[in-house]
Amino acid sequence: MADRSFTSSTQAVPVVGAVPRHVAIIMDGNGRWARKRFLPRMAGHSKGVEALRGTIRAAIERGVEYLTVFAFSSENWRRPADEVSFLMQLFIKSLQKEVSRLHENGIRFRVIGERTRFEPALVKAIAAAEDLTAGNTRLHLTIAANYGGRWDVLSAVNRVLARTPGLTEVSEAAVDAELSMNFAPEPDLFIRTGGEQRISNFLLWQLAYSELYFTDTLWPDFDAHTLDQAIVSYQERERRFGRTSEQLADDGMGRHA
Ligand code: IPE
Ligand code: IPE
Ligand code: MG
Repeated sequence: MADRSFTSSTQAVPVVGAVPRHVAIIMDGNGRWARKRFLPRMAGHSKGVEALRGTIRAAIERGVEYLTVFAFSSENWRRPADEVSFLMQLFIKSLQKEVSRLHENGIRFRVIGERTRFEPALVKAIAAAEDLTAGNTRLHLTIAANYGGRWDVLSAVNRVLARTPGLTEVSEAAVDAELSMNFAPEPDLFIRTGGEQRISNFLLWQLAYSELYFTDTLWPDFDAHTLDQAIVSYQERERRFGRTSEQLADDGMGRHA
């Protein structure tokens, strides 16, 4: 059973100005970064891994507890076969290269998404990294790979139904507990790089009340500085979850409390 002892972001109002506990990022713009330099798209993906490394370090320094990044969507299989294959190899190579460093830094590594379509070497590398880092708590790093938000919600609903034959209604709490991110609070801050302003089937259920931040910065150029800009923007916002500003002030939670 998942640990549900945290307060869900949908219910509890975090203090304005706090560092977001959970940051979720769509790492977009690798291809355009490469094209601008007359390089193959693959060069952008390789550079993107470096940007992720820097972002992980910065997130830890800032006190972020959960970092979830979209690396490959269930729709990305539609890309040219050589690009898909390059991305899979890059995933395996990066994992093998980085896993001990992740572990040394107290990072708990997880992958969410449908793994059955991955080649055995990748499935093995993921399982090994998850096992090795299972006891770590400093930062929960989650990579969404072959992930789709609709797949996640439907799988959760189907698991609930399968468990209780004859069930005609499924509760929010039951679905919540079966989602692949059931171990984490909902994202406080959602970032998408690369200028596009869409969710692209990322964490559909959990983004209900996340603060959205879009930047034209291409993912390979993302770093501690651009992360800070997103966090500052987040800290200036008032999260109301349906309430009014006055209610928040009365409860000591608002901007001017
Ligand atoms: C994001 O960069 C990485 C993946 C989707 C794997 P893109 O490859 O989508 O880069 P653009 O959007 O073409 O610039
Ligand atoms: C979304 O990026 C998924 C990832 C970053 C892995 P895309 O670049 O594939 O998204 P769309 O297709 O432009 O929406
Ligand atoms: Mg893209």
